[in-house]
Amino acid sequence: MAGEFVPVDYFRKLGRAEICRGDRLLEIDLGCGDGSFLMEMARKFPDRDFLGTERLLGRVRKVCKKITRQHLENARVLRLDSRYVVEWLLPEASVSRLHLLCPDPWPKLRHNRRRLVQAEFLESVHRALGPGGEFLFMTDHEEYFQWAEGKVADFGKFELLEWEENSFFYPKTDFQQLWESEGKSMWRLRCRKPLTVA
Ligand SMILES: C[S@@+](CC[C@H](N)C(=O)[O-])C[C@H]1O[C@@H](n2cnc3c(N)ncnc32)[C@H](O)[C@@H]1O
Repeated sequence: MAGEFVPVDYFRKLGRAEICRGDRLLEIDLGCGDGSFLMEMARKFPDRDFLGTERLLGRVRKVCKKITRQHLENARVLRLDSRYVVEWLLPEASVSRLHLLCPDPWPKLRHNRRRLVQAEFLESVHRALGPGGEFLFMTDHEEYFQWAEGKVADFGKFELLEWEENSFFYPKTDFQQLWESEGKSMWRLRCRKPLTVA
């Protein structure tokens, strides 16, 4: 499918050149859903490359169609589990921003282990980000937000940055619009990998 990124080999780390052209900045949108955030970012920043991950085939097909229709050459989508992509496929220090927006909150205690934000995941995010790279997490789910805040604090290798709404270009995602139309607020966490490792 045009717009789809299919790794040559699912069992080895990708080379940066496979997911990004030249020295362009690379941004990853984990669980990109209908792709609206991914595509708006790709339109706004034609000199950056964007890769979305999404596990549902139907959604991947729709996003690919939209990418093709809009002739977006800097956006692609990978049909694969986000955790696997971050932990096994992304090359070291290859990503400038990694977005995790309105992820499934898995609110039941016995399902908490399915949440993406866990110690190993944060370690992999940190490894995949270049120096000064950012991990941006947003949810309507206060308890998941507190969980993520706690995991980031325990991890201890990120700096926390202010993230006021509208302080920089950041399109609303499909789910964000849905939750906000129901009167819910969004919780934001912006983490930066330090420029120099202490
Ligand atoms: C609640 S939706 C949010 C979609 C989009 N980020 C937004 O804010 O509109 C979560 C999306 O992540 C996808 N997803 C959930 N877990 C995933 C995983 N482990 N790997 C890849 N995609 C996942 C779901 O299929 C769904 O499309």
